[in-house]
Amino acid sequence: MRTRQFGRTGRAVSEIGFGAWAIGASWGQVDDADAIAALHAGLDAGVSFIDTADVYGDGRSEQLIARVMKERGGERPFIATKAGRRLPKQETAGYSVENLNGWIERSLKNLETETLDLVQLHCPPTDLYYHPEVFERLDRLKQEGKIRDYGVSVERIEEALKAMEYPGVVSIQIIFNIFRQRPIDSFFEAARKKNVAVIARVPLASGLLSGKFRADTAFEASDHRQFNRHGEFFDVGETFSGVPYEVGLAAVERVRALVGGNATMAAFALRWILMFEAVTVAIPGARSAAQARANADAAALPALSQPVMAALKAIYDEDIKPHVHQRW
Ligand SMILES: NC(=O)c1ccc[n+]([C@@H]2O[C@H](COP(=O)([O-])OP(=O)(O)OC[C@H]3O[C@@H](n4cnc5c(N)ncnc54)[C@H](OP(=O)(O)O)[C@@H]3O)[C@@H](O)[C@H]2O)c1
Repeated sequence: MRTRQFGRTGRAVSEIGFGAWAIGASWGQVDDADAIAALHAGLDAGVSFIDTADVYGDGRSEQLIARVMKERGGERPFIATKAGRRLPKQETAGYSVENLNGWIERSLKNLETETLDLVQLHCPPTDLYYHPEVFERLDRLKQEGKIRDYGVSVERIEEALKAMEYPGVVSIQIIFNIFRQRPIDSFFEAARKKNVAVIARVPLASGLLSGKFRADTAFEASDHRQFNRHGEFFDVGETFSGVPYEVGLAAVERVRALVGGNATMAAFALRWILMFEAVTVAIPGARSAAQARANADAAALPALSQPVMAALKAIYDEDIKPHVHQRW
């Protein structure tokens, strides 16, 4: 597994990481044994970056990660968590000293550690980026040794550009995949200039880019691909990247024709992300050991050719762009 430098932190992480939302909740039933096996399989395959959040299963994801760390012993991977979504309502006022300190203490306890590697504000409201005092509170948590670094998980590119004006922000997490290509336009260059790490989330467009779904695929009631398909509970961009399901299915057939050799479409989609040097780590979610292993293996695929890259851009421009490009 190749590694990439995580921005200015001086640490290197595997270019394929592990997204730990699905082992928390919101993706249908995932039992503890499968979740634990998935984490072990990813780490065995060389993954050294895990992304979680305090709200994934209300702490379950963080606690399962801590359990696996204890089982394995030795050096811990880079574990990034997030804070802010425990608020009943997303308002800047909720990001008070008291709340921030409370969320961090809870994550420290759940992850069974004395210092969090990285805390990301979890898609805060746009207004928050215009409140430097929130970032000063994070600076203080850093000075106190509770967190090693902090970053932001954003919905919109303009939020990312604003967040990077704060010198303490070491990373931006953003949706980036074959169906979300706008970050290429100017965000990547801005992040590169400031040496800010880029975490590419939802890399498989919630599994759509694995090529396994059909028009009649049924999702469990507790799976956001069922309950949030139209943004009923959180930003619709987090579900299938905000691409209408039928539009996505049709574009996937065009992508399928480009997948060469023995690669799976999921691995091909992840390898596309790694073609961009500004990306530090892609964090596919996995619900089983087999998925975690397959995703880690994507890093070993050869580079995609220029004609294939151009064809994937054309698919995006023609089929997907009108649905997502100006929205995030
Ligand atoms: N606001 C935020 O900050 C935010 C929001 C979203 C995600 N994230 C982070 O980003 C991570 C990744 O995003 P995501 O989990 O939403 O979406 P994703 O990585 O695009 O898709 C994950 C889903 O795709 C399917 N899958 C995974 N590997 C596969 C493989 N090799 N072959 C076939 N299917 C496969 C699995 O679902 P099935 O098997 O059920 O189809 C899996 O749950 C999350 O885990 C989380 O850490 C953060």
